[in-house]
Amino acid sequence: MSDHRIGPETERLLHRASIPEDAEAFFKLNTDIEVMRYTAEPMLESVEASLARIENYPDFETVGYGRWSCVLKSTGEVIGFCGLKYLPDLDVVDVGYRLLREHWGRGYATEASRASIAYGFDEIGLERIAGFVLPENAASIHVLEKCGLQADGEFEEDGLRVLRFVIDRAGYDALR
Ligand SMILES: CC(C)(COP(=O)(O)OP(=O)(O)OC[C@H]1O[C@@H](n2cnc3c(N)ncnc32)[C@H](O)[C@@H]1OP(=O)(O)O)[C@@H](O)C(=O)NCCC(=O)NCCS
Repeated sequence: MSDHRIGPETERLLHRASIPEDAEAFFKLNTDIEVMRYTAEPMLESVEASLARIENYPDFETVGYGRWSCVLKSTGEVIGFCGLKYLPDLDVVDVGYRLLREHWGRGYATEASRASIAYGFDEIGLERIAGFVLPENAASIHVLEKCGLQADGEFEEDGLRVLRFVIDRAGYDALR
């Protein structure tokens, strides 16, 4: 299986599999109420829980790829995560992202997601990438649209309305 632990480099960002040193940043990320508002995920309980999640993240071994830590090249700071996750229940690959609040509004999520999508098609050989978002999450919907994903219906999960966006290889090729 090829090793996709090192992800794409962009003008401002590096992507790599998360390491134990990222635990503090992910604890901060996953305990910020504004960040977690539309994720439908519980907050992390402690830095130890954050570390355990990093140490027990199986996707690079089991699937071959996964979410990466986003590192700001100018400072070396971990500003969040982005990347591709295979969702077995839906049999689909999802592009996802979550950034520390102080780094919102500078185009980082779009930059990271475009690079992740390009990596998925060009390096992993995917045929289709989806994005799932709550209808209230306007910033995230905007990111998906800027990356070329198009609305493709909705469904309900745990009582929440979830919008599905997709881009396939033909759509990706047409963007270039
Ligand atoms: C979603 C998130 C990653 C966006 O990060 P970001 O780096 O600020 O995103 P970008 O700057 O690349 O793009 C955001 C776009 O949405 C727009 N936007 C931001 N808030 C908005 C709002 N409330 N309504 C409409 N558009 C909005 C921005 O103007 C920008 O578009 P522009 O470049 O055309 O101006 C960030 O807000 C975040 O981490 N949110 C919490 C986690 C989350 O919700 N993740 C996604 C789950 S599906």
